Amino acid sequence: MQIKEGKIVVLLGLQWGDEGKGKIINDSVPEFDVIARFQGGPNAGHTVYHNGKKHVLHMVPSGAFSSDAENYIGASVVLDPIGLKAELEEIDTVLPIYERIRIAKEANLILPTHRLLDKAKEKAKGKSSIGSTLKGIGPAYTDMTSRDALRIGYVWGADFNERFTKLRDLHLTAIRETNAEDVIDMPALEAEEKNFMEAIDFLKKKLGEKGFVHGSYYLRKMVMEGKRVLAEGAQGVELDIVHGSFPYVTSSVTNIGGVCEGLGIPAKMIGEVYGVVKAYTTRVGNGPFVTELLDERGDTLRKNGNEFGSTTGRPRRCGALDLVQLRHAIGLNGVTKLVITKLDVLSGLSEIPVCNQYLSHGEPTDELPFDYTVADLVPQFEKKEGWEAFPDTIKDYKDLPKNALAYLRYIEESLGVPIVGVSVSPEYATLQIPEGGLK
Ligand code: GDP
Ligand code: IMO
Ligand code: MG
Repeated sequence: MQIKEGKIVVLLGLQWGDEGKGKIINDSVPEFDVIARFQGGPNAGHTVYHNGKKHVLHMVPSGAFSSDAENYIGASVVLDPIGLKAELEEIDTVLPIYERIRIAKEANLILPTHRLLDKAKEKAKGKSSIGSTLKGIGPAYTDMTSRDALRIGYVWGADFNERFTKLRDLHLTAIRETNAEDVIDMPALEAEEKNFMEAIDFLKKKLGEKGFVHGSYYLRKMVMEGKRVLAEGAQGVELDIVHGSFPYVTSSVTNIGGVCEGLGIPAKMIGEVYGVVKAYTTRVGNGPFVTELLDERGDTLRKNGNEFGSTTGRPRRCGALDLVQLRHAIGLNGVTKLVITKLDVLSGLSEIPVCNQYLSHGEPTDELPFDYTVADLVPQFEKKEGWEAFPDTIKDYKDLPKNALAYLRYIEESLGVPIVGVSVSPEYATLQIPEGGLK
């Protein structure tokens, strides 16, 4: 990746998540000293392969399986200590991890009662539920903005248990007041709360005080010391709380603005912005999806791409590449380089639909509507010629089939941003493309 002095590199998913961010980062880790997560929480599932074995990371950044990389969990992340403990224990069986983790003290904790609140809220929404991962993300961020949250830095204070009890009681009252008691199973909750406290003790012991840092200074100082930092986005542009397909979004700022806030760096420290794009589109959970293919073409993508959620196992909804949506994502984030993933999944299709424009009430448009949920949008598909399967072990992009190269060239020209990498396997190295290489 292109690293500029004094600047961090940012990597974002440009669609609805699951673009293959984990894979791309895992491939690039040797180029960096620090991999830094800036938002989201255990709703993320980033798949990486290490020595042929698959691992799914939820809260630990994707530098976990490189012995030299430090993994920083930034201030705007929401953390479930029970899940984090399990994740760290699993990684540590492969590579020592505890010395390579730093957590911003500002990061907010997800309590077991946050998950109950998530469940109650989704249940109350009925048919219009978001399709949340039910990891407690929305309620944890709600507590942050209402200024009630339990920050992880508080674990070192003598009043931590008191703060915990105050917040969980607030949650239980809220659940009871909305007549949602049926989500509360008291013995199960108490067992989870015991696990929560054990996990907190575990993190304090394993990471020590030096593992918990002041997020307003930590990463900025690292950059000023010359450390090479990669900011790892979770989710994707269209799941952003403000600019995504609201209300069918997550509760964090997945876009570029979230990098400065979550990592405590000024905007001028942002260098290249890499956007990861799946060669088609998927979305898991509910909400609008203009280019969704509800016929056998969608089923084929799901089957060939093994499109089942890394966090929940749910089947992902599949559709065509949406260039209107991608132009939205690129413009909002100032994306400077593109990496295309899962190109291999399209092999064997006789033709590949791509959407380059919508019709809105019969009129052509190149913009996403303010309210997707009521919009009348008809995708206009262009058909691209397919190609035969090729070995996923190829090492040079020039060995890709002619029509696959033409597909990439078409994307690059339509989006006006260079494609610098193409992934054709979950495991093998991403193919590098020199700038201008597709022309
Ligand atoms: P993330 O959330 O963006 O990190 O993506 P996920 O890990 O949730 O989902 C991406 C899925 O696609 C994972 O199962 C990856 O192992 C897999 N994957 C990533 N890149 C490729 C690729 O180029 N080809 C294929 N076939 N699978 C890939
Ligand atoms: P990664 O980082 C795909 C989706 C959920 C749901 C909505 C809100 O692996 O790309 P939440 O649990 O945040 O309340 O869910 O957002 N969602 C994701 N979809 N990839 C993710 O992360 C996601 N994280 C959340 O499916 O529709
Ligand atoms: Mg994922």
